[in-house]
Amino acid sequence: MGKKVLFSGIQPTGELHIGNYLGAIKNWVKIQSDYDSIFCVVDLHAQTIEYDQKEMPRRVQKTATVLLACGLDPERCTLFKQSYIPGHSELMWRLTTITPIGDLERMTQYKDKAQQHRDNINAGLFTYPVLMAADIMLYKAEVVPVGDDQVQHLELTREIVRRFNHRFGEVFPEPKPLLSTAPRIRGLDGKAKMSKSLNNAIGLTESPDSIRKKLASAFTDPARLRRSDPGHPEVCNIFTLHGQFSPPARCAEIAGACTAGMLGCVDCKREFADRLIAELEPIQARAAELRAKPERVQEILREGGRRCRARSERTIADVNRAMGL
Ligand code: TRP
Repeated sequence: MGKKVLFSGIQPTGELHIGNYLGAIKNWVKIQSDYDSIFCVVDLHAQTIEYDQKEMPRRVQKTATVLLACGLDPERCTLFKQSYIPGHSELMWRLTTITPIGDLERMTQYKDKAQQHRDNINAGLFTYPVLMAADIMLYKAEVVPVGDDQVQHLELTREIVRRFNHRFGEVFPEPKPLLSTAPRIRGLDGKAKMSKSLNNAIGLTESPDSIRKKLASAFTDPARLRRSDPGHPEVCNIFTLHGQFSPPARCAEIAGACTAGMLGCVDCKREFADRLIAELEPIQARAAELRAKPERVQEILREGGRRCRARSERTIADVNRAMGL
C-alpha cells in the first residue's frame, strides 16, 4: 500500500474517439499501477443532457469495453459505474450545502452547455461540478488526471475541500490535477475540440475503411490549395495528430517536406491513416473479444463497484460524523 489514490471519470458516450484516447485513456493505462487508481464511468453526469434511457446501459457497456480494450487492467486498477454507488449522490447533497451559487455560475462549461441546451437547463447541469467534487472526495483522492477543459471544475473541488475542512474539520486531502501532456485534439473540421456530438471524431472502434474515408475529407492547412504550395504544419491538425502517432524523426521529415511543398496532404493523410490503423488494431481486436463476452465486462464493473462501495461507506460515515448527521 502507500500508493496515492487517483480518481478520474469519463462520460459513457458509447463511442470513445481518438481525442478521448490521446487526451485521457492512453495516459490512464500508462500510470494505472503507479497509484491506487479508480476509474469511473459517470452515468449520473450523463443524465444532465437529454438522453434515451433504453440506450444508457448499452452506452455504459460499450464505454467500459473500450476502456478495457485500451488496456485498463482490473488487476491493477478499479473500474466501476458511478450510479452503482449511492455515496456519489449522498456526498454531493452534503457538498451542495457548502457551495456558493456564485461559484457555480462562474463555471464556463455550465455557461456553454446552458447555451447549447436552452430547452433543458436543469438543476443537475448547474450542480454538475459538485457531483464531480463528490466523485473525487468520496475516495479521498489526491491525484486527478484531467484535460484542460476540467481544470476549472477541479479548482472548484479544491475550494470545496478547503471549505469543508475549515468548517467541519480535516477530513479530505486537497486533490491535485495531473494535466494531460497531449495537445488539445481538434476534430476533423480542424477547429473545435474532437467530440462525438460535433460529428468530427474518429472512433476507436471504427473500421479502417471508415477511418480512411473520414480522413480524406479532413481539414488540413487552409492556405494550401496545390501540392506545390508551401504548407504550414504548425496550423495543420493532421500534423498535430502525426505528432501523437508517428516517431519524432519522421514528424520532422514530414514538416520539412510539407513546408517545401514536396509532400502533399493526400499522401500525408494516407501515412497518418496507416499509423493510426496500426495502433488501433490490437485495441479493436481486444474490443471484439470482450464484445463476445459481455458478462465478463459486467462482472469487472460489479467487482470494481463492490470494492468502491466499502470505501465510499467509510467516507460517508466520516462526513456524517463531521457534519453532525
Ligand atoms: N466531468 C468530467 C468530463 O466530462 C468527467 C468526470 C466526472 C470526472 N467526474 C470526474 C473527471 C471526477 C475527473 C474526476 O470529462
